[in-house]
Amino acid sequence: MNLSNKRILVVGGTSGFGREVAIQSTQQGAEVEVIGRNPKRVATFNKEHTDIEATVLDATNSTDLKNYFASTQSFDHIISTLGGAMGGGFLDSSLEKIRQTVEDKFFANLQLARIAHNFLNKKGSLIFTSGSGGHPYDASGAIVGNSAINTMVAGLAVELAPDYRVNAVSPTWTPTGLWRDMSETDVMQQVKNFSQGVPLKRVATIEEVASGYVYLMQNDFVTGQILNIDGGIDLN
Ligand SMILES: NC(=O)c1ccc[n+]([C@@H]2O[C@H](COP(=O)([O-])OP(=O)(O)OC[C@H]3O[C@@H](n4cnc5c(N)ncnc54)[C@H](OP(=O)(O)O)[C@@H]3O)[C@@H](O)[C@H]2O)c1
Repeated sequence: MNLSNKRILVVGGTSGFGREVAIQSTQQGAEVEVIGRNPKRVATFNKEHTDIEATVLDATNSTDLKNYFASTQSFDHIISTLGGAMGGGFLDSSLEKIRQTVEDKFFANLQLARIAHNFLNKKGSLIFTSGSGGHPYDASGAIVGNSAINTMVAGLAVELAPDYRVNAVSPTWTPTGLWRDMSETDVMQQVKNFSQGVPLKRVATIEEVASGYVYLMQNDFVTGQILNIDGGIDLN
C-alpha cells in the first residue's frame, strides 16, 4: 500500500495533475521520473524538484518512447495525463479537429499502454486520465476520446490481469496548465461559471485530483475502474 521505494513514471508530469502526482508520490518515498514535451517546462521542473528526474520527450513518438524505457529501469506504476481538450459539436467542428483530439487522447494512450506494460514490474499498474462533465454536442472529440479511454481501461484490466492493474482518474474542468492560453481573468470567470453546474459548487484543487492517482497506485485490489473526481458534475 505504501509507495516507499516504488518506481513511478508520470508521462505528462511537468505541469498540472501529473506534476502534483509526482510531488505527492515523492513525499511518500517513491522514486519518480516524469516526462514532458516542452524543454523550458522540463528545465524549470528539474530546477524546482531536484529529487525527481524530468526528461524532454514527446510521448506520442513511439521510437523515442521505446528508447526511453530501454534506457531506464522498469516501473511499479506508470501514469499518463496525455490528452487535451476540445470544444465544438460533431457538425460544427472540422473532421481534422475531432480526429486529432481522439488521436491525442485515445491513440496516444493506447500506444503508450502497448509499449509501457512491457516495462512494468509485477503487481504494478497503469493509470490513465479520462474526463467527466462534457456534453457530446459541445465537446465531441473530447467525449469520444474519454469514452475510448474508459473502454480501453476495461479491456486492458482483463488483458493484463492478474499481474498488473489498469485504472483511470476522471477529472472535470479544473484550472491547470491545460488552460495556460487563457487570461487569468478568463480562468477566474470560468471557475465561477463552471462551479454553478457542479453539485459541490466549486472546482477541484489539483491536489484533490492528484490524490486519486495515488489512491489507485496504493490499493492493490482496484482494477478496471474510472475514478471520477469531479464534484458530482454528471449527476445534475
Ligand atoms: N484540466 C482540466 O480541466 C481537465 C478536465 C478533464 C480532463 N483533463 C485531462 O487531463 C489531462 C491534462 O492534464 P492537466 O489538466 O494537468 O494539463 P497540463 O497542466 O497541461 O499538464 C499536461 C502535462 O502533459 C504533458 N504532455 C502533453 N502532451 C505530451 C506529450 N505528447 N508528450 C509528453 N508530455 C506531454 C505536458 O507537458 P508539455 O506542456 O511540456 O507538453 C504537461 O506536463 C488531459 O488528459 C486532459 O484531457 C483535464
